[in-house]
Amino acid sequence: MAEENIKKRIITLRSEIRKHNYQYHVLNTPLISDHEYDRLMRELQALESEHPELITPDSPTQRVGGEAAAGFVRVSHPVPILSLSSAHSDDEVRAWFDRIAKLDKRVRDSTFTVEPKLDGLTVVLHYKNGVFTLGTTRGDGEVGEDITSSLKTVRSLPLHIPVIASGPKPPARLVVRGEAIIYLEDFKKLNRELEVAGERTYVNPRNTASGALRQLDPSLSASRPIRLLCYDIVDSDGPVPQEQWEALVYLKALGFPVPSDITLESDLDGTLARYQEWGERRDSLPYEVDGIVVKLNDLPLARELGVVGKDPRGAIAYKFPAQVVTTHLDDIGLNVGRTGVVTPYAILEPVEVGGVTVRQATLHNFDFIHEKDIRIGDRVLIKRAGDVIPYVIGPVVDARTGEEVPFRIPEHCPSCGESLERVEGEVAIYCVNAACPAQLVRNIEHFASRGAMDIEGLGIKVAHMLVEGQLVNDVADLYKLDEEALSGLEGFADKRAQNLVESIQASGSQPLSRLLTALGIRNVGEAAAGELASQFRNLDRLSEAVLEELEEVEGIGPKVAKTITDWFAQASNRRIIKKLREAEVWPELSVAEDRGPARILADLTFVLTGTLPSLTRNEAKDLILRHGGKVTGNVSRRTDYLVAGESPGSKLARAQELNVPVIDETQLKALIE
Ligand code: IVH
Repeated sequence: MAEENIKKRIITLRSEIRKHNYQYHVLNTPLISDHEYDRLMRELQALESEHPELITPDSPTQRVGGEAAAGFVRVSHPVPILSLSSAHSDDEVRAWFDRIAKLDKRVRDSTFTVEPKLDGLTVVLHYKNGVFTLGTTRGDGEVGEDITSSLKTVRSLPLHIPVIASGPKPPARLVVRGEAIIYLEDFKKLNRELEVAGERTYVNPRNTASGALRQLDPSLSASRPIRLLCYDIVDSDGPVPQEQWEALVYLKALGFPVPSDITLESDLDGTLARYQEWGERRDSLPYEVDGIVVKLNDLPLARELGVVGKDPRGAIAYKFPAQVVTTHLDDIGLNVGRTGVVTPYAILEPVEVGGVTVRQATLHNFDFIHEKDIRIGDRVLIKRAGDVIPYVIGPVVDARTGEEVPFRIPEHCPSCGESLERVEGEVAIYCVNAACPAQLVRNIEHFASRGAMDIEGLGIKVAHMLVEGQLVNDVADLYKLDEEALSGLEGFADKRAQNLVESIQASGSQPLSRLLTALGIRNVGEAAAGELASQFRNLDRLSEAVLEELEEVEGIGPKVAKTITDWFAQASNRRIIKKLREAEVWPELSVAEDRGPARILADLTFVLTGTLPSLTRNEAKDLILRHGGKVTGNVSRRTDYLVAGESPGSKLARAQELNVPVIDETQLKALIE
């Protein structure tokens, strides 16, 4: 192909792929099969790898966690991996019931299971003689992609069943279906960490899970908090339960994670009542659920009823109302975070989603606006799910009038007007002015927050007033505030001023680890702060530490070590340290508090699981730390002992698999005596 034609083909492919991405992810109405989509993507990848000079950053192939499936081994499913038809009202569910009851009158006396419809990535898991041998995606229902290595990094996935030795013995061949998901809490934490590290944040849990598992490099999946919930036995060569309810009980007994709160209903009215309940709980569930799944409990009957296309007649998804709406993008606002990261947010024409009025939504980062070509004045799709901050999915291109204005990346900080900088290798744009008032407000808010110095009565509003009133120029100035200074602020009658001064003064005796967290050094979270505190014992010693010393600390890599030395090298930060010492906010770890003279557990790494008879988790951890040992969260080949109590989790199975010695509380204490 001539150069010109190649270029043209690439442009056509990109626009086709974008259209299908939009149809699939946004509109939920794919126009082509996964297979056809993969073909387009592979063609584009092939052309781009032959002509790397034609690769543009907005090409669909460059998307992190993209849907590209090239490079995976394709695997035929043992039986078709079916989909589900949907209903959106009680009437539609009743109509479904009447339809199948007409086909077979046994349906009238049937019972149903009601399960959450999990919004994740379907996975098909194969076990041979109890050993996990193969895991695939659903693909087109006939052929999936082999993602075994990525799935092996998912901790809730049993690598061997039964997980508990006393559990039922599975048939020699067992194929189980489940959903890979990310819990909302984990998703928020992941995005917070990425944001702190100046990296690209993710749009939603579903795409993050799907993108992470469909990576050829399993270490990428390992770094994402993916979990599994199972709900179906797809195939087996031995006896398995013939009722859906029993099948779920059985899967659980084998050690598979199964969604909680599944119910068995004796009639359709009960089933519809459950829908209401799930709907009310929807926003407080730990994961995203887009409806319920109603299934005939009698599995042979369900099988006899057959399928319509790819949808089994014996089950139906009863969907919740959409959490996606469209509205007008009035403007794009800019937020300055405490590390100086400037992030864009959408200012919207107010719109109601799920009973809440949304006026603002996150736009993630500037690359996102560019990639999605979001313009001011666009109609945009907004999603609000659970308590995740509402976010913009993308523009409704068809609704454009031509009046929309492309967004220009700002060059100056909206707060202090200084130039913004882009750090190489990061998507974030920073205001590097240490005296930027917006950053100072955020810094104070963080300094006073619960996990840090825990200063009651000092939230973002008060922080704002303090900065605006020029009462503080850095966090150390907080300790100079007295009632008189505060009394000039709006709403600060005597008592409130006195209370704030008292809680600020009280915070001065927080331990070093909290002070370190409070200083807000990039990449230094609570865990790292704890390790640094016990290693260096006061701020002076830490400020003098060189890279090599820092890298010796558990959990501190070269990148974090560098941010720490950079932080202490800044004159403004050195001034803060000096002022804190003058204000006697100077926590030190005494040698006695250090890991103690008896370092009998030195160089040993422990993992804790289950409930111990007399020690709490923290007490056991302290005991180990005080004797020089280390405690980590996960069992690996480097673990020396797993300390197991009652109801141990999957860590026990993992330890047994890796031949890591398992001990109980008594044996732990015996090691120390
Ligand atoms: S059962 C014959 N149960 O929803 C079995 N599916 O829209 C058919 N899903 O692709 C599936 N939670 O990935 C079933 N409790 C659940 C589910 C569930 C989520 C997904 C599944 C399927 C999609 C259908």
